[in-house]
Formats: sequence, structure tokens, C-alpha cells
Amino acid sequence: MSFSLYSVSGQGFVGRDENITELVKQLSSKNKIGFSLSGIRRIGKTSILKETKRLLEKKGIIVIYISVWSIVPSTVDEFAKILNRATILAFEKKLPKKFKFEHLLVTGTKALQTFLQNLKLSTTVAADLEASVSYVRKESDDVENAMKKSFSLIEDLSRMTKTQSVLVIDEFPSLADLTYGTKNQKMGLQIIQLLRTLFEDFKLTKLVVSGSFRDTLENLVTKSKAPFYKQLLLREIMPFNKKEIEEFLKHYLHTLKFSDEDTKNELYKITSGIPYNLQLIGKEIQYLELKKIDRKKLSEIIKIVLQKDGEQSFKEFTENISPSEIKVLKGLAKSPGLSPIDISKQEFIDENSVNNSLNLLGKKGIIKKVKRGRYEFTDNLFSEWLKYQSLL
Ligand SMILES: Nc1ncnc2c1ncn2[C@@H]1O[C@H](COP(=O)(O)OP(=O)(O)OP(=O)(O)O)[C@@H](O)[C@H]1O
Ligand SMILES: [Mg+2]
Repeated sequence: MSFSLYSVSGQGFVGRDENITELVKQLSSKNKIGFSLSGIRRIGKTSILKETKRLLEKKGIIVIYISVWSIVPSTVDEFAKILNRATILAFEKKLPKKFKFEHLLVTGTKALQTFLQNLKLSTTVAADLEASVSYVRKESDDVENAMKKSFSLIEDLSRMTKTQSVLVIDEFPSLADLTYGTKNQKMGLQIIQLLRTLFEDFKLTKLVVSGSFRDTLENLVTKSKAPFYKQLLLREIMPFNKKEIEEFLKHYLHTLKFSDEDTKNELYKITSGIPYNLQLIGKEIQYLELKKIDRKKLSEIIKIVLQKDGEQSFKEFTENISPSEIKVLKGLAKSPGLSPIDISKQEFIDENSVNNSLNLLGKKGIIKKVKRGRYEFTDNLFSEWLKYQSLL
């Protein structure tokens, strides 16, 4: 089996039975239900979305997958383009005649209606497309209408082709940052409101969103003032459990023998059950062509991985945090379980900053509170990397 640092589905996808069963069953049912998936970085959200997509498509359900991070520049206009393009592509096989959104964009204004008529679409679908095209071509500046028509296109195509569909928006909280016009006015939140209103009335289209920062996702989905409050089922994606790690090992490294249970437990602990870490360490074990592994060998491999890939893998974590947050993290990495007061003494920062930092780091999902005054890393490999950095 080949290792991957990208999201996986199909062959390389292991575990997650409960999540997948629920998602596929509910999303293919007649129930009016959508989901919001949260989970720390690299826990496997995108993979779950893609595996769900694959299985739903097998059942004849149309799935439109969009990652907000692929919208570059992050403007409403670009979003409209990407959404329309993805929608048409997803429905392609069910259309009377094949076409691409780009075809519509290059057809002259006058010819557009004839072009659309020839495609034998329903009147609502044709009208949705016409509105989106004229907006993207800057012939109209009614952005709200254009967005409304872009989302309605999915529901109207579903009705026209008599299919159920699912719109999946990955990295959903970033939608809030989309801007509009020459002044880069933020209007993402308006779009999110609109999405909510529209989905309330959609009969054939369901919505699934996903995001990694619990805080921002909560603002949109869980809090009582949030636009999607009580509209979506909330599911937190958890680390692999021991059974899933066993499954991962069997699938990816089936010839590898563990010299004892202790070594396996250590692998479980150091990876924190995060699939990305398993891919990272697994590819090294494969590269070294190891047949057998004990604790000593495992810690050697961890060192090699941190040396080779640590910076690339964890830089992103330290880029968006303040110097005192880093100090707190380093303190916790050096002495796991240290209380806030002791962190303050050990790292020479005042107690207020320590508590503040702990709070912010918790919101970012980098650490979790296990009980009063006691914090743990959500990713032990990251903690190991910080420790390793301090030794350099
Ligand atoms: N079920 C799985 N089986 C095997 N590998 C997996 C699984 N889920 C995730 N992975 C691996 O873990 C890594 C992260 O996966 P993925 O991109 O799906 O996570 P994510 O939560 O979407 O991450 P991000 O926060 O960066 O968006 C990838 O290397 C992927 O191959
Ligand atoms: Mg992802």
C-alpha cells in the first residue's frame, strides 16, 4: 500500500466505520438532515468527506465537493465560478447534453439564450445559469441574486434530473472571509446567511460542512446566534482508536512485526491516533524496509521523521501563535502535565499570560484541558518536535 500525505479515499482509506455509516445512511435517506464535521488539523476530515462522496455516488447521489481554500483569490466572484463549474461537472452524466460552465462564459450575451435552449434544460436551471453567467461576466452586479442562483442551481438540477444531491463545503469557516468588489468588502457572512435560508427550503439537496478550528466553526454552527444553529448535526472527528491503528498497520505495513505490545502502545501514544502522523512514520518504516520494530528502533525512526519532515509538518502550527503561546507550549512539551503556575515559573512569564495562552491554544485545538489546571497536547508528535527543537 502506498502512503499519502494528501486526503485518501477508496483503497487507502481505513477505519471511521461509525462516521461513514452514519453519513452515507443519512445523506442518502429522505430525511432533511445535514452535517457539520469538526476536528483538529490532519485528523482526516477531508478524507471522510471524500470517502462519503465516493460511496454516495455509487448509490446514484450527486455530490458537489468544494474546498474554500481552493478559492483563489478568495472573492465571492471566484466562489461563484468554482461552485457553478463544480455543480455542472457533478451533474454532467445526467444532463441531456454535455456542456461546461466555461462554454457559457464565452458565449455572447445574445447567443446565450439560444445556447441554453439547445441544452434542453428546465426553465429554472436555464434561468439560474443565465443569472450566474451575467454576474461572473460583470454584466450584472447583483451579487446576492447571483449567489442565490448559484446555490439554487444545485436544487433545480436535482429536480430536473430527479436525483438527490449533497453540497459539501470543506474549510467552511473560511467562507466568512470572502470579499466582494474593488474595496474588498467582506461579505462571506451574508453568503452564509443566504445559504442557511436557502437550505431550509431545499427538498433534494443536503449540506455538509467541515472545519478545523472549533472556535470559528462554533460561531457559525453551534452558538445560539449562529446562522446554522440547530440546523446541522454536529460530529467531532476523533483520533483513530487502537482498533483503527491496528487496521492501519495491517493495511499499510502488513509485513511489519512488533517485538512487543509496548512498542505498539508507544506508536499509539506518539501519533496520538492522528492518521497524518501514521502516514508520516509509516512511510519512513517502509523506506527503511524494516521487518521488525522495537521501542528503540521506533524512537530512532521518530527522530529521523522529525529531522526530515518536522519543520515542514509543524511550521504551520507555530506560524499563527504568539511568542508567549510558544513558550507555554515548549514548557508543556518539556514537562508534560505541568500546572499553569509552574509553567509560569519555568518559562519566566507571568501567570496571566500563561492562562491566556492556554486558553487560546485550547481554542485552536493544539492543546486540550484534561482536568483543572492540567493540559495535554492533542498531537504528541508535535510536542516531540518542540522538545527536539529545544535540544538543537
Ligand atoms: N481514514 C484514513 N485512512 C488512512 N489515512 C488517512 C485517513 N484519514 C486521513 N488519513 C491521512 O491523514 C492525513 C490527513 O488527512 P486529511 O487531509 O483527510 O485530514 P484533514 O483533517 O482534512 O486535514 P486538514 O486539517 O489539513 O484539512 C493524510 O495524510 C491522509 O492520507
Ligand atoms: Mg482537510
